[in-house]
Amino acid sequence: MALYVFLVNNPIVTSEIVTKEHVFIQLHQLLSDGKLFHGHGVIDAEDEAMMIMMTVFHQSVEEILSSGSSPVAVLERKKAIEFAQQRIATCQPMAYVLGVVNFAGLAFIIDNRALVPRSPIAELILNKFKNIIEIEKVDTALDLCTGSGCIGISVAKYFQEIQCDIADISSEALSLATDNIKKQNVKISVIKSDLFQNVVKSYDLIISNPPYVSNDEYNELPFEYKCEPKLGLVAEQDGLKIPVQIMQDAPRYLTESGTLILEVGYSDELLDSVFPQIPFQWIEFSNGGQGVCVFTRKILLEYQHYFKEFLESD
Ligand SMILES: C[S@@+](CC[C@H](N)C(=O)[O-])C[C@H]1O[C@@H](n2cnc3c(N)ncnc32)[C@H](O)[C@@H]1O
Repeated sequence: MALYVFLVNNPIVTSEIVTKEHVFIQLHQLLSDGKLFHGHGVIDAEDEAMMIMMTVFHQSVEEILSSGSSPVAVLERKKAIEFAQQRIATCQPMAYVLGVVNFAGLAFIIDNRALVPRSPIAELILNKFKNIIEIEKVDTALDLCTGSGCIGISVAKYFQEIQCDIADISSEALSLATDNIKKQNVKISVIKSDLFQNVVKSYDLIISNPPYVSNDEYNELPFEYKCEPKLGLVAEQDGLKIPVQIMQDAPRYLTESGTLILEVGYSDELLDSVFPQIPFQWIEFSNGGQGVCVFTRKILLEYQHYFKEFLESD
């Protein structure tokens, strides 16, 4: 406890041996006191402290935890504390402060050109879409509303035999996605498109994490979310307009046996209540997250008239 108090009260120690554990405790303390909102794929100050540790030491969580007693260079500690101070001073999401974020075990460049990657679809990718689709039968995939490119690029990286395309309406997001394509060294076609407008192919798999937040919900969000592009969050018709438009249009861009995986997050209950006739197949996640559903092309075609009716009611 005495050491803990000492560390907290002495931000820059040069004459003592400071370990990773000490730095982590100090970061945790700083970030807990910062009146911050912890979202964007993290749940608390401890998670954010670990993000800083991973960036500064270029290590995984496991490597950091197993080397807690290793000494830390003065400059490394200084850098770690500066990141925490910048997070507190600006209230920007930690991923924007660090400029890097982990998604599906890969490091992505991130900044305010696109939303911070946090989709639970990462878990599906890491589990090889087990019990959802037979990924070995997928030859072509489209990540629609790709943002930073995290979903499409991860698919291309882990399933190299799949020809993957990514699409987004935002030039800024696509410039970031292009940076990430280079970083991950994958072959991907980039399409600037308002939903499917400029899409010309059919795909075995379409994955989309589109905007699904209502205007009212957006207004209530903590400051951290207001640092992200609003275009990536908000959709009209209580957040459902873009997801329903995708459900309506997807059959034209899916192969005969194709699948749509669509994320609507906390709007899942609303979707269930707006379309009580549709038996949505919601995916269960082990690592947190909700509101991702799976559709075959056949099912989407069967319920077309409901989607049309909803979109026309706007
Ligand atoms: C929730 S973000 C998801 C980003 C990324 N897929 C992820 O999981 O982190 C939604 C993305 O949809 C894009 N978007 C919004 N409206 C669109 C539209 N009409 N057509 C294509 N993309 C759109 C935004 O630019 C944003 O990048």
